[in-house]
Amino acid sequence: MARTVVATAYGQPSDVVEVREIPSPVPEAGQVVVDVRASALNPIDVKTVAGVMGSDPAKLPIHIGFEAAGVVSAVGDGAVNSTGTPIVVGDEVVVYRAVGGLSSEILATGSAVHPKPAGLSFDVGAGLLLVGVTAADTIATAGVSDTDTVLIHGGAGAVGAITTQLAIAKGAKVIATAAERNHDFLRDLGAIPVTYGDGLLDRVRAAAPDGVSAAIDTVGTDEAVDVSTALVGDRARIVSIAAFGRGGDVTLVDGSTEQSRANRARAIGQLLDDAAAGRLVLDVAKIFDLDDAATALTELATAHPRGKFILHP
Ligand SMILES: NC(=O)c1ccc[n+]([C@@H]2O[C@H](COP(=O)([O-])OP(=O)(O)OC[C@H]3O[C@@H](n4cnc5c(N)ncnc54)[C@H](OP(=O)(O)O)[C@@H]3O)[C@@H](O)[C@H]2O)c1
Repeated sequence: MARTVVATAYGQPSDVVEVREIPSPVPEAGQVVVDVRASALNPIDVKTVAGVMGSDPAKLPIHIGFEAAGVVSAVGDGAVNSTGTPIVVGDEVVVYRAVGGLSSEILATGSAVHPKPAGLSFDVGAGLLLVGVTAADTIATAGVSDTDTVLIHGGAGAVGAITTQLAIAKGAKVIATAAERNHDFLRDLGAIPVTYGDGLLDRVRAAAPDGVSAAIDTVGTDEAVDVSTALVGDRARIVSIAAFGRGGDVTLVDGSTEQSRANRARAIGQLLDDAAAGRLVLDVAKIFDLDDAATALTELATAHPRGKFILHP
């Protein structure tokens, strides 16, 4: 038997999220079963349970979780991984996008199965790719290069911290917004931290006297969009992953266009290699037991953890 986290209705995690026992999955052709060592939570899981992403009763119960890492325990005919290599039992892998990633065992199609580099922990592997491909997509869409000064809103968040590192690796100067407690973290990454809130525009201007050439918003507030549009003339270079009500002012990316999907797919191997080699850092904020998924979802809804919430089955 396997254990999996489901939402039986839309609402508060404490009311609707439970762990169920289900028969262990069996792979069909092209699929594998992964014995999960770690799964990761993302804000989209919180929004899915709350019904923000849609509240169709026909979709219940919802199997939660978009990413996991573990060891292949069964292989269907002809299953190959994302690099085209045949998958064998015992392979250590990262699964993204997973369906029902918060489970002790998951079924995955080979194209969503990526080889886990030996130097990468299961925890970081589980939490890296959703935020990593999103960050890489923003960098590619904004066309960040070494001639840029980039403003990153939410630079210490899970997506923001990867975006900050990727922009710095491109040679850009980075101004990143964050709460005061995260400023040292951002300085260590090589960014100039500024506190968000009233007066943000003036603080960014002071930090970037020669101007800002691109902005990446991982927060979605009107403040983030308004400050970005005041500083960057070219809307194509103001990229947001969260300001879905401000599509007229920013370029939204969410993996729904062919270009966005291509940016994301292209980034996966490099993200895994860079994290394994220590060139890219992903903080694990907290580890929960799979049985405590409702608590983890509740905490993620209110906390600004610097890094990922990871669950162990
Ligand atoms: N479009 C996509 O493809 C896509 C993909 C992934 C995520 N997302 C969305 O992107 C958002 C961020 O995801 P995440 O995983 O990075 O979340 P996260 O780790 O919780 O980070 C969010 C960051 O926002 C900052 N923040 C909170 N309130 C703020 C405010 N009023 N002004 C400025 N910054 C504020 C926090 O900074 P401090 O901690 O410094 O306060 C926090 O670090 C979520 O809405 C998520 O659903 C979209």
